[in-house]
Amino acid sequence: MMVPPLSLYVHLPWCVHKCPYCDFNSHVARTPLPFADYVDALLVDLDADLQTEGGLPGRTLQTVFFGGGTPSLFPPAEIERILHGVRSRLAIAEGAEITLEANPGAIEQAHFSAYRQAGVNRLSLGIQSFNDVMLQRLGRIHSAAEARRAIDAAQQAGFDNLNLDLMYALPGQNIDGAMDDIEQALGFAPTHISHYQLTLEPGTPFGKQPPPAVPDSDLAWAMQESCQARLAEVGYIQYEVSAYSKPGREARHNLNYWGFGDYLGIGAGAHGKISRNDGHILRRAKRRNPKLYMESVHKPERLEQCAAIPDQELPFEFMLNALRLIDGVPRDWFSQRSGLADEAIAERVTQAVARGWMSDTRTRLRASPFGQRFLNDLIESFIP
Ligand SMILES: C[S@@+](CC[C@H](N)C(=O)[O-])C[C@H]1O[C@@H](n2cnc3c(N)ncnc32)[C@H](O)[C@@H]1O
Ligand code: SF4
Repeated sequence: MMVPPLSLYVHLPWCVHKCPYCDFNSHVARTPLPFADYVDALLVDLDADLQTEGGLPGRTLQTVFFGGGTPSLFPPAEIERILHGVRSRLAIAEGAEITLEANPGAIEQAHFSAYRQAGVNRLSLGIQSFNDVMLQRLGRIHSAAEARRAIDAAQQAGFDNLNLDLMYALPGQNIDGAMDDIEQALGFAPTHISHYQLTLEPGTPFGKQPPPAVPDSDLAWAMQESCQARLAEVGYIQYEVSAYSKPGREARHNLNYWGFGDYLGIGAGAHGKISRNDGHILRRAKRRNPKLYMESVHKPERLEQCAAIPDQELPFEFMLNALRLIDGVPRDWFSQRSGLADEAIAERVTQAVARGWMSDTRTRLRASPFGQRFLNDLIESFIP
């Protein structure tokens, strides 16, 4: 097995309000939030991970991602303290991508410059829509005007590498509405746009009681195709199911996930995946509840899961990530990054080609355009 690139995910779990569609590990903030205690816990968590990995000698972080939750609730000084703590334990590569997620309803303008000074060089803004009615239906805490102000503020602070999250197939939305959101986003010329179809996640208020007039899958597909065509026309390349970027501005952190790279995950509910010298690939998940996470961070109970991925599950785990990429990945990454021989997937790849779901598989593993339409079925065909 070859050692893949290494990333770090930092989960910051609080939000001002829980959106009714959201099943991320996010918790409504009861002020005052224990920012300093949480950051202390993150660094203890990182120490514990590194200790079990022997410090990961010779390995360098290529990307860092502050996700949530709403990381922009954290004061810049605490973000700086995290990055400083990380740097004193593990090398961060020169020019590494360091992203922070921000919610337009939870931003103080002055914070943006301070995040940049702390070392953050990419911002991801949760816009969702530029239509006030849609924002209200989604239970967002911000208006379209606030979303625009947040983008202006980010750009004024010098964030030239900027992602805007948009959702489509919103309750009562039509194709023109979805296209209008794209058009408004393009007005800011961001380097990256994430375009997610609204998913009614089980267990969320929207999952239990779907809002009226959610577009069906055919309409959602038509919206996606129209938006994709418009984005292509103005030079945004779709490189993943939901991700579009200007050339060379792909989200490197996410590319590492999809390429079956390694990542440490610190913070409540964070997941990590590390390839070990003994050929095993270890998955770890941290305790989800922020309070219990902080209380148990010094003890083995900080881990909710810690186990090697069984060999028979590796083909599915690999494909679950790789096939999301429009161009897929080099075929030899499978054996290099899973440690298994190519035979472990060869027959199933041949079957997928016969169904028209994959093509040109000699040097790359990728879904055909037809396979992208049936991506879940294609990925599931690699379940052991
Ligand atoms: C973890 S959230 C963090 C961003 C930030 N908390 C916010 O909401 O502004 C990342 C993105 O996932 C997307 N998302 C969350 N729940 C979703 C759902 N049920 N369906 C589709 N996209 C979703 C949203 O676009 C959101 O901006
Ligand atoms: S702000 Fe983002 S993370 Fe928080 S509840 Fe809403 S979608 Fe989820």
